[in-house]
Order: sequence, then structure tokens, then C-alpha cells
Amino acid sequence: MTAPSPRPLPAGYRFAPLTEADKRALLDVDTWAFPSEVDLDEQVGLPLPLTWSRTFGVVSEHQDADAVPLDGAVPTVSELAAMHSSYPFSQFPVPGGTLPVSGLTWVGVHPQHRRRGILSAMIDLHFEEARAAGEPVSALFAAEAPIYGRFGYGQAAQDLRLTIPRGAALRDVPGADEHTVRIEKADRARHGELVDTLHRAAGADPGGHGTGINRPGWVTRETPELQESWWSDPAVFRRGRESERIVVVERDGEPRGYATFRRKLAWETTGPRGTVSTGEVVALDAAAARALWGVLTDLDLTSEIEPFMIPVDDAITHLLVNPRAAAGRVADNLWVRVLDVPVALAGRQYAGDVDVVLHVSDERVPDNAGHWRLRATAFGEATCERTDDPADVSLDVRELGSAFLGGVSLVSLATAGLVTEHRPGALAAASAAFGWPVAPVSSWVF
Ligand SMILES: CC(C)(COP(=O)(O)OP(=O)(O)OC[C@H]1O[C@@H](n2cnc3c(N)ncnc32)[C@H](O)[C@@H]1OP(=O)(O)O)[C@@H](O)C(=O)NCCC(=O)NCCS
Repeated sequence: MTAPSPRPLPAGYRFAPLTEADKRALLDVDTWAFPSEVDLDEQVGLPLPLTWSRTFGVVSEHQDADAVPLDGAVPTVSELAAMHSSYPFSQFPVPGGTLPVSGLTWVGVHPQHRRRGILSAMIDLHFEEARAAGEPVSALFAAEAPIYGRFGYGQAAQDLRLTIPRGAALRDVPGADEHTVRIEKADRARHGELVDTLHRAAGADPGGHGTGINRPGWVTRETPELQESWWSDPAVFRRGRESERIVVVERDGEPRGYATFRRKLAWETTGPRGTVSTGEVVALDAAAARALWGVLTDLDLTSEIEPFMIPVDDAITHLLVNPRAAAGRVADNLWVRVLDVPVALAGRQYAGDVDVVLHVSDERVPDNAGHWRLRATAFGEATCERTDDPADVSLDVRELGSAFLGGVSLVSLATAGLVTEHRPGALAAASAAFGWPVAPVSSWVF
């Protein structure tokens, strides 16, 4: 494999690996990039989710205009101007399996240094690092949706953000009322293992049907730093809401689902109008899902429940007797960048038999460009090899990223002119095969 040729940083900047000793400087740049109401001093005391060995800064080196020259030489000032990091997701769920994926995160450029090509150079370094680590895919959450398409990331997953009126009627599910309910303060020591176990199990087998059909994108918090940060609940970030709570539903003494949530109380002349915001709502089967949603939609002193970032095919969308009563919005969730076409495409399963030659274009990672023959049997083995055969379907690596988790159809991308068919029937077959029965999503932002 030849490496992509990284774009150099603009003159006056250099990359530097960051360590724990750089925490304050990193948070300073971060709060320049992402304005925060929380003081830097306070933030420095909070746990960081980052893996330091995968965290890089961009240092600006310039002459100090205010300094008095010493022996005719003007002292140089070094300042952190930008940073990025990535999480090592060694078991990132893709359709029918897992792959090592680099989770790009904490991308920030100080406004003083923006629009000079620093992000572009950081992206190239990220691609190089990920490929060297054997990670054929990079995934991220985008602060602003227009940023990452130019680098070959495609919008690959969406999530649902709802507002449901308290007491909304829900369909019955046999067995739901056989659950016992625990409502407690969320606590890592008490609930950490339960949450991890149920989260993994629900991702591996959504609905609990034992079919082996997983939920792509359902990434777990693999590193100790991510765990510590996810469970930390600093009061300064609660925005008037209570500390984190958890409801656990158990059947025959076994936990079958949990939801993290926070309430916020408001008193109005008409009475209390509290809201419930959910964090993660995770259930092993339909009965547990019904039991959980039943608790969440009937908490005293509240008038609305606001599920955040749930899968677009979550059980609640079917449990609501009157789905129109729930106001909703679909938002972009994961963005995916394929960094190594043959490894990534052979590393997932397909929902139909397929034998197709894809013509992939990729300006930034030239190794990906060319004709690839993808052969797969439905829910079985897949191979992807370079070929000189004529293309059946053409697309950019960005659209390959969109389709990679099975949540965006190649046919729908073709309706926007982003995918082209060269052999009649090839697009429909490839589109069906790339799809997946369970919608991709990550339940938490990284
Ligand atoms: C977004 C951000 C990282 C961009 O960094 P930057 O160093 O200014 O980016 P670059 O100069 O390398 O820009 C590369 C290209 O992306 C474009 N671009 C950069 N930021 C963009 C944005 N927010 N929206 C749309 N396009 C953007 C640039 O115009 C440039 O386009 P060109 O190649 O056609 O000239 C920086 O502005 C920032 O930190 N913003 C606030 C925090 C944030 O949003 N971080 C991203 C977290 S996911």
C-alpha cells in the first residue's frame, strides 16, 4: 500500500504529539474552537476521554512582536493552535461483524489560525495514522455537517430526536408487565457492568431474535478514559437538569434493559411542566423496551419526554399508538470514511448475493481509486479485489462511506446523481446487498 501524500502544514506550524502535560493548553484551544460557559480552570479538573498516544497538536511558531530583541535576535513563541485525536475502536460494529475503526474526535483550530489549511493537514495525518494502525475506516460526529464531505466522509447513519407527550398511549407487548423496575442515581460502580453488558448485547442482537443481525455503528466505550469520562457527571454541564438517573428493568431477576435520563422541573401557572431527557435507552427485547418506555413516559411532574439520539427504527416508533403526537427530527449521526477499500468492503456482510465491479474515485487516498470486484453471499463471506473488468457502478469514496453501514441506499444516492450505473440491474442488486435490516446508529457522541 502506498500512503496518501499528506498535505503539509502551512509555513510556521508543526505537528507535535500531545501528552497529559498539555491538558491545559489542549483545553484552551478546545474552548476557543467550541465556546463553553464552563471556565478553563474548572474543565482542567475533569476527566478527559482522550487516548494521549493518539492525540496530536499543531504548534504555531512565530516571532514575539512584543519582545525586546536579545543580541539582535527576536525570541520565538510557540503556541498550540489546533489539535485532533482519535479513539481506537477495535470492535466497531459494521454489518454482520466488527472492524477496527479510528474514531476521529476533538478536532479544533483556534479561530486565529483558521482557514489556512490546518484541518486539511490534520486530516491527512489522521488518515496516515489510521492506516498505519490497520484501521480501514474512520468514523466521526460532525460539529457542522458541511465540513467533512470534502475529505471523503459520507453521512452514514442518522438518529431520531423526539418530543413525546407524557402518558402517550403505547401498544401492549406480552411480558412487559412481568418486569420489575429500579429507578436509581446512575453510578459507575453500581451500574457500569450492567450498562456495558446490555449495551453490547443489544447491539449484537437488536430485538433479541438470535438472528446474528447486528446494529452497525453501535460502538462501545472501549477505553478506560472513555468509560471514566462517560460516567462522570460534572454539575457544570447539567444545564439546570438533575444529576444522571437510570431506570433498569429486570425480568426473573435479570436486567433486560436500562435507560439513563435526567429530569428538569418547571412550574407554570397551569402546573408542573417538567421534561425528561433520555441518554441511552437500551433493551434486549420488545417486552423490555415496552417496560422501559412505559416508565419514561409516565414520570410525575413531567409533561414531555425527549429521547435523544435513538435509532430511527427504535421500538418506540412502533409502540406509539399515535406516532403523530411525537414531534421528531432526524439528525446526522455517524460519518464514515473508507480508508482501505478492499479491507473495509470484505470486512462486512451483505444482505444479498452480489457480484459487482465498483469504480471508486478517491482524490485523497489514491490507493482506493480504481475498479474493485465485490463478491458476497447473503449474510456470508465477502471478497473484494482489484480488477481490470469494466465498472458496473461508479461512485466516490464519500458515497461508499455513506452506504458502508447499510443505512443509506446506493439507489437513493443515485437519485441525487452521486452514484452511476453502467450495467442495467447492477445498481439495484448492489443497493439491496449494501443495505442492512437494522438501521445504523451510535447511541453516544464521541
Ligand atoms: C472546522 C475547523 C476545524 C476548520 O479548520 P480550518 O483549519 O479552518 O480548515 P481548513 O483551512 O483546513 O479548511 C479546509 C477546507 O474546509 C473548508 N471548511 C473549513 N471549515 C468549514 C466549515 N465549518 N464549514 C464549511 N467548510 C469549512 C474550508 O473553507 C476549506 O475549503 P477549501 O479547501 O475549499 O478552501 C475549524 O474552523 C474549527 O475548529 N471550528 C470550530 C470547531 C469545529 O467545528 N470542529 C470540528 C469538530 S467535528
